[in-house]
Amino acid sequence: MIHKELETLKMVEMDAGEVFSGKKSNTKIMGYEAKNSFTPIKDEHYVFHELSRDVIVWFMHNISPLYLFGPSGSGKTSVIKQLAAKLNYPVFEINGHSRLEYLDMVGHLSLQNGSMNFEYGPLALAMKYGGIFLINEMDLLDPATAAGLNSVLDGAPLCIPENGGELIKPHENFRFAATANTNGGSDETSSYNGTLKQNMALMDRFFLCEAPYPTADIELKLLAKVQPNLPEMVRNKMVEFANEVRNLFMGNIKDEFECTQRIDVTFSTRTLLRWAELTMLFQPLAKQKINVVNYALDRALSYRASTEGRILLTELSQRIFAEEK
Ligand SMILES: Nc1ncnc2c1ncn2[C@@H]1O[C@H](COP(=O)(O)OP(=O)(O)OP(=O)(O)O)[C@@H](O)[C@H]1O
Ligand SMILES: [Mg+2]
Repeated sequence: MIHKELETLKMVEMDAGEVFSGKKSNTKIMGYEAKNSFTPIKDEHYVFHELSRDVIVWFMHNISPLYLFGPSGSGKTSVIKQLAAKLNYPVFEINGHSRLEYLDMVGHLSLQNGSMNFEYGPLALAMKYGGIFLINEMDLLDPATAAGLNSVLDGAPLCIPENGGELIKPHENFRFAATANTNGGSDETSSYNGTLKQNMALMDRFFLCEAPYPTADIELKLLAKVQPNLPEMVRNKMVEFANEVRNLFMGNIKDEFECTQRIDVTFSTRTLLRWAELTMLFQPLAKQKINVVNYALDRALSYRASTEGRILLTELSQRIFAEEK
């Protein structure tokens, strides 16, 4: 069934500007005529911003495999999936972890109706039929397993001895994208437990792209789209708050004694969206004189912080939301 569907996908030429920004650009991009079972669901609120530029260039020119790295919740996975959703592209996705094996990506023999059949894994499907192979959290992979991908990353065919030595030549629409919280070097912030320094030869094969948190104007645009009923002033302060927390996390803020202030949590775009959503959901509590913004903040972020971190967050909230009380 799946194979039949993937074999019959039809390509179509689209205007890149029209697809991603709604404005004609005369730059052509190839997509599929209609979505299929592997096309990600379109997020109508998604904002294509600066990060998308590199990803679109990578996608159009298939320069080399993409390694997109940045802090948690900055929009790495979603930029790839939303690009695919716009172009009706299939995405064959897998999450990296320390026990992930090469065959989890390539496929396994399995018993079906009394006979052994080879079931293609996400990498084999993407290479055979065309589409994006997306491996999230690539830096959680055991480096030796990850290095097993080197020949595929070089553009070589995939050989599957388990399927009678089948050789899959990479389809022209095959794209390899990895996302990770570290640049494959090591975790400098000690925040991403389980990540491993990857093999240098593996990392050398990638087009690297950094995904920092979106800029304030983009996050404001996003909040306005997702929570239009939240007062603009609150949305502005939420974004200001998020950026202050990020600066505290990075050690970019000094106290009155010129000592670096630090916090043990950061503020992802994911957390920002959750905070805004919870603030709207808990609005009825305002009648009980509960500060809803703080109530939602606890549940979106503060409960995850250390005791000291929570004190800092409370002080920051008192300063930024002073007029709200
Ligand atoms: N430009 C954007 N427009 C709309 N939503 C966005 C945008 N960027 C991020 N988001 C939202 O923020 C959340 C986190 O994004 P995503 O899952 O892509 O982060 P990530 O960088 O892959 O995080 P992790 O490292 O934890 O896997 C998602 O709900 C996503 O839809
Ligand atoms: Mg992700």
